[in-house]
Amino acid sequence: MKFEFARRIAAAAAAAAMATSQAGAAAPVTISADLSHPGPKISRQIFGQFAEHLGTGIYGGIWVGRDSPIPNVRGIRSDVVGALRALHVPNVRWPGGCFGDNYHWRDGIGPQAKRPATLNPDWGGVIETNAFGTEEYFDLLSQIGAEAFISENIGSGTVKEAADWFEYMTSDQPTTLAKERAANGHPEPYKVKYLGLGNENWGCGGAMSADHYVEEMKLYARYTRNYNPAQNGDHAGDNAMKRIAVGWDSGDSDYTEAVMKAWKSKVWSWDIEGVSLHGYTVEEGWPPHKPSIGFGNVDYAKNLQATLKMESWVTRASGIMDRYDPDKKVALFVDEWGDWWAPNPGSNPGFLQQQNTMLDAIVASLNLNIFMRHADRVRGANIAQMVNVLQAMILIDGPRMVLTPTYHVYRMYVPFQDATLVPLKVDASPYVEGDISLPRVDAVAARDTAGRLWIAVTNTDPTNPATIRAAIEGKSVAAAYGELLTASAVDSHNSFDHPEAVKPVPYRGRVSNHELSLDLPPRSIAVLQVQ
Ligand code: AHR
Repeated sequence: MKFEFARRIAAAAAAAAMATSQAGAAAPVTISADLSHPGPKISRQIFGQFAEHLGTGIYGGIWVGRDSPIPNVRGIRSDVVGALRALHVPNVRWPGGCFGDNYHWRDGIGPQAKRPATLNPDWGGVIETNAFGTEEYFDLLSQIGAEAFISENIGSGTVKEAADWFEYMTSDQPTTLAKERAANGHPEPYKVKYLGLGNENWGCGGAMSADHYVEEMKLYARYTRNYNPAQNGDHAGDNAMKRIAVGWDSGDSDYTEAVMKAWKSKVWSWDIEGVSLHGYTVEEGWPPHKPSIGFGNVDYAKNLQATLKMESWVTRASGIMDRYDPDKKVALFVDEWGDWWAPNPGSNPGFLQQQNTMLDAIVASLNLNIFMRHADRVRGANIAQMVNVLQAMILIDGPRMVLTPTYHVYRMYVPFQDATLVPLKVDASPYVEGDISLPRVDAVAARDTAGRLWIAVTNTDPTNPATIRAAIEGKSVAAAYGELLTASAVDSHNSFDHPEAVKPVPYRGRVSNHELSLDLPPRSIAVLQVQ
C-alpha cells in the first residue's frame, strides 16, 4: 500500500513535470518593440576588455617576444590580434586588477634586456619579466584598433609616480620624460582615453575605508594630468580623457556612495567622469569552487540566477548616482565582471584558468543585455579577462588558439556598438529548475549607426525550444537574418582538439504577413538584422 502510494505520487510528479515541460515548449513568447520611442545610445565601450598581468593572459596569451616561432608583430602574437580585430574591441583595461595596485611603470619601459625581473605576488608569485610594458601595450592597442584604459596604482604607488607616467605617455613638450618616450620609439604623445583611479582599493588596492579612498582619489584625479593636446581644450570633445573612480564591490555600495557624495560637493580642482562597479558571477559564493565544465541543468540554473544579480547591482548603483547626479554626467563603468569558476584541475590556482562553455555564452549575452538596457548610465564595461584568464574570449596553449563561446557572443553583438536602444518588452512564462525560476527569454533591440534594426534574443531554457512572435510596432518586416549560437549541452565548449564544437551558424527568422517569428533551440542566442 505504502509503495503504491509512493508510485502514484511519483507518476503524478512525472506527469506534472512533463506537462510543465510541454507547456514551456508550447507557450508562445511575445517580444514587442516600439520604434517610435528611441532609447539612449549604447556606448561601444560597454564591449571593453580587461588584460591583467595574471597567469598567461599577457605572457603567452598576447606577448610571445620578437624571437618566438609563433607568428608575431614586434612580439605580439598575430593569431590573437586577428581574432580580437573581429571584435572591434573598444578599449583594453591594463595593467590590472590587483596587479595594477603593485605596478611601477618604470619597470616596463626602455630596452627589453635592461628591464628588471620583479615578482607578481598576487597571481602565483611568479617572475614578472616586465617585457610587456607601456610601449608594448600601446602597440597592442594600435594593432587591434582599441583605446587605452590605464588603471593607475593608488595602492602602493605615489601621486608623483602616477603624474610622471602620464607626463611620459602624453606630453608633446620637450620635457625629459617626453624625450625619454621618444627615445623609446614613440615621439608622438599617446592618447589615453580612460584613467582608472586605482583598483579595488577596498581590498587588494590597500583595504582603504571609502572616506580614506576618496581623499586619495582626489589627489590622483587632480595631478594625473593628460597633456596630449588632442585631448585637451574645447576642441577635444569625446577625445578628452575620462577618469573612473573606484566604486561598487559586488553588492557593497559604500564606495559608490562616498565617491558620488564627494563629487556632488567637489571644488574646481578635481573631477571624475565615471565610477566603477565590480561584480563577478560566483555560483554558491566565494571562493569560486564549481568546475567550469561537467555540470548539468541544476548548476546551469544556479549560475544564471547568480549572474542576474547584475541587474540589481546596476540598478542600485544607478539609484545612488541618480541622487547626486540626476543629469547622469558621471558614467557607471562595470570595469570587471564575468563568470568566475574553480581553476582548471592541474593548473596553477593563481592563474585563474577555466574553460568557457555555452553557459558562459548565455551569461555574456544576459549581462551585455543588462548593460545595454541601462545605457543611459552604464557607458563602459570590461569583461574579465581577454585571453586565458577567467571568462576569456580566447584560450591559448603554446602555438594553438581557441575561440570561446563568449568570443562568439562578442562577435555577434558588434552591431550593437554605438547603436541606439529600441525599447522592448518580453512576455514569457519563466523557466523553472527546482526552486529557481528564471526569465525564459531575454532580448534587446537597437538601431545601428546606419539606421539598421538589430535584435538579440536569448533562450535561456536548457531543455525547451522557444517559439517567439516579434511584434515590431512601426515596421512591416520583409526579412530577418543573422546568426545563431547553440550547442548540444549546457557545458559544451571548444577545446584545442575540437576548436569548433560551439560556433555560430547562419539563421533566418520566419516572416509571414510582414510579421516576424523565431524558433530558437534550447540554450541559444540569436542576433538578427530585421529588414
Ligand atoms: O580579475 C581578477 C581580479 O579580480 C582582479 O585582479 C581584481 O581587481 C579582482 O578582484
